[in-house]
Amino acid sequence: METNITMAEKPNYGSPTWHVVSNAMLGSALILVGVIAGVRYSPLLYLLIIPSIYFLWSAYGWSRGGYLEERLRIREEFIRAVGVGDGERILDVGTGSGFLAIGFAKAMREGEVVGIDIWMPMGGGTTMENALRNAEIEGVSDRVEFRRADAREIPYPDGHFDRVVASFTIHIIRDWPRALREMVRVLKPGGVLALLEPGRGWASGWKVERVVEHLKELSLKQVKLQPLTINFPKRRTVYLIKGVKTGGRNEHPSIMELAGRFEGAVDYTGEVKEEVERLFLQRHEETK
Ligand SMILES: C[S@@+](CC[C@H](N)C(=O)[O-])C[C@H]1O[C@@H](n2cnc3c(N)ncnc32)[C@H](O)[C@@H]1O
Repeated sequence: METNITMAEKPNYGSPTWHVVSNAMLGSALILVGVIAGVRYSPLLYLLIIPSIYFLWSAYGWSRGGYLEERLRIREEFIRAVGVGDGERILDVGTGSGFLAIGFAKAMREGEVVGIDIWMPMGGGTTMENALRNAEIEGVSDRVEFRRADAREIPYPDGHFDRVVASFTIHIIRDWPRALREMVRVLKPGGVLALLEPGRGWASGWKVERVVEHLKELSLKQVKLQPLTINFPKRRTVYLIKGVKTGGRNEHPSIMELAGRFEGAVDYTGEVKEEVERLFLQRHEETK
């Protein structure tokens, strides 16, 4: 396949359309006001044009995937916290420009990463072509696949993925409980679900505290909420929400399984049996 990638080409991890539009509009409005006021009232008012440069430059920066370094730092921190193993299957929900999907694919030597999105027009201004191009630029086209699909109806069977992740997506979905249910459904028992989202979602009733409760009800254990300070698009606190789906292979070993580990080494009776049972109950309580 012809790739046509230049050495200097950087991935474009999108920009919230709102930032591009608002900065461009503000910049243009200041130019207009500066020119009209300068002509009509005083040449000094031409100075109003100067701040417009800042806004137009910001709009350009956003449209070119501005703040790329900060975005990459956030991605690295997220992947470090969530973990990744070679040969895993990973799903990035609301992948946009492939931001997390590509990051995970880069962090594995082999495996399968899927990014799904409906690529809504005002959802960050990204497209599937944009995601595919980024995968090429980052050299992981062979490990990552993009599909048009809705988070509320994920087209994969139960227990398909080792990790299901999302960034800045679930809080904008009106029926986010349904999206979370789907994400947990396609996760393997023992698999990890991780989200990077703001504390509040103004249109969807999203509140991180409610999300944590909801995930616990969806039989996720070890649900943790970790605040992260990021500078995207401004300095603010977002939350890494992480949990493990119950029912993993090593979870709740039966008494007989535990006993099997002692077989041949000790006599599994009396005090040893009591101790094994005590440890089993303690482990069971810890993993609840
Ligand atoms: C703010 S962007 C975040 C994109 C990417 N995860 C990132 O961090 O750069 C939100 C994304 O969620 C997608 N989205 C919104 N509703 C969705 C849904 N119901 N199912 C799948 N994707 C959705 C939008 O199209 C958009 O690409």
